[in-house]
Amino acid sequence: MELTLSYISLSVFLLLLIAFIFLSQKSHSHRNLPPSPPSLPIIGHLHLLKQPLHRYFYKLSQALGPIFSLRFGSQLVVVISSPSGTEECFTKNDIVLANHPRFTIGKYLGYNYTTVVNSPYGDHWRNLRRIMSLEILSTNRLNAFLSIRRDEVRQLLYRLYQKSSTDFAKVEMKSKLSGLTFNITMRMIAGKRYYGNNLENSAEAEEFRELMREVFLYVGASNPAEFLPVLRWIDYKGFEKNLIKIHERMDALLQGLIEEHRRDRSKKTLIDHLLSLQESQPDYYRDTIIRGLISVMILAGTDTFAITLEWAVSLLVNHPQVLKKARTELDAHVGQDRLIEEQDISKLPYLQAIISETFRLSPAAPMLIPHMSSDDCIIGGFDVPRDTILLVNAWAIHRDPKLWDDPINFKPERFEGGEVEGYKLMPFGFGRRACPGVGLAQRVVGLALGSLIQCFEWERVSEDLVDLTEGKGATMPKAEPLEAMCKARDIMKKVVLDDRNHA
Ligand code: HEM
Repeated sequence: MELTLSYISLSVFLLLLIAFIFLSQKSHSHRNLPPSPPSLPIIGHLHLLKQPLHRYFYKLSQALGPIFSLRFGSQLVVVISSPSGTEECFTKNDIVLANHPRFTIGKYLGYNYTTVVNSPYGDHWRNLRRIMSLEILSTNRLNAFLSIRRDEVRQLLYRLYQKSSTDFAKVEMKSKLSGLTFNITMRMIAGKRYYGNNLENSAEAEEFRELMREVFLYVGASNPAEFLPVLRWIDYKGFEKNLIKIHERMDALLQGLIEEHRRDRSKKTLIDHLLSLQESQPDYYRDTIIRGLISVMILAGTDTFAITLEWAVSLLVNHPQVLKKARTELDAHVGQDRLIEEQDISKLPYLQAIISETFRLSPAAPMLIPHMSSDDCIIGGFDVPRDTILLVNAWAIHRDPKLWDDPINFKPERFEGGEVEGYKLMPFGFGRRACPGVGLAQRVVGLALGSLIQCFEWERVSEDLVDLTEGKGATMPKAEPLEAMCKARDIMKKVVLDDRNHA
């Protein structure tokens, strides 16, 4: 009897769902929506999606044009693959498109849509952006943390030197670069290192690393239940249940860090600074807001650097002549007597060109962050109704042969002329919701990459080129972790010796 009743309620639910989808599709039918491939009832185009999405969408844009639409279940999605479409999104439609979709991940890891990444456009978001730019990522604050970045880069150089002081040695770079960026971020936040040698508390570090592995697995996972209510209803693959558990662990860890700093206020970390703001404005700087700010720094500001650096080194070992030219520039401007410093980067145009070219070919966020329309708008002459998800395929624009000469090849020289005009390069997005971490990202990537080039010779592990296949994830990782051969240059011996003398 009970079974029959639940069967009937399931059937009624499904019928209502189909009717709802049918009606919502009907209500869009009189509009001039962007072109779309044939779709199936209920699931729309979900069955067509192939990873990596940016490549699949690039193919679709070649058949359908630079603005096309898809349905993920009943959700309308518009994909933009042209500079003019992008410009329209982030100029005249910037406010209408200044929301992000409310995915389940934002409910838990985004503190119920209250962090700067997840919160809707409005006063709360504006306040958080203000805190990010004035209190966390301001030039003064970044300068105050310079010694952390310098020290972590040095520790990476030492680790490589230990293996390669006399001859070429094979090194696995992915984990080292990821350790570098996590340590930089966590030292700024809480004064703690969780990766590499000489860890203060190895059990705590292990727990942190394990949690981060799981968090990033979830951040990068695709979840069809987002678009198919039936799957959400049955919590498909336990996605939500697991996310709740991960959120609880992450939340406890972040609160633990806050409590530690509340007990001992002697350190000058970001948590200490936020706690002093809490004293003067307790209503605004509540612990949840502080936890949200820290979690955004960890989620948005670690993997992105590490992935960019891994792509940059991979591209360099595949292009020895570019590496040689970069080393010559470094030797001419910085020399072999001292290590490169952040303030040298502005005088190293070729190094900057290599970084821009890496961002062009391998943007860490190939489709930016999904945006959501809060009202009807028009892009490229097409109607984009309210509540449409909008994706900008930056990866496709970065490789468009109409915009770039020889677009698939790594040629830093194309950036030697200076800044790029218009909407053809967008590793950090545009408009109100563009990345606030650009300054920090450029400092870390510039210093780390410059140091690796200055201090080591780099080669491939075999005659074969490094495989540049892209893997799955929210950011665009390499499918295969980078392994390369490196050998310390003379400057490393000098640096190690100098540091020993000063120790
Ligand atoms: C190589 C490094 C980085 C890259 C390539 C990158 C890229 C991006 C992109 C493409 C967006 C989305 C823009 C849009 O959808 O319009 C974004 C947003 C964001 N990024 Fe970054 N990012 C990097 C580093 C950082 C760092 C270091 C931080 C902070 C510590 C950070 C914090 C954020 C935040 C908070 C947002 C959301 C802004 C909002 O919604 O208002 N990012 N980033």
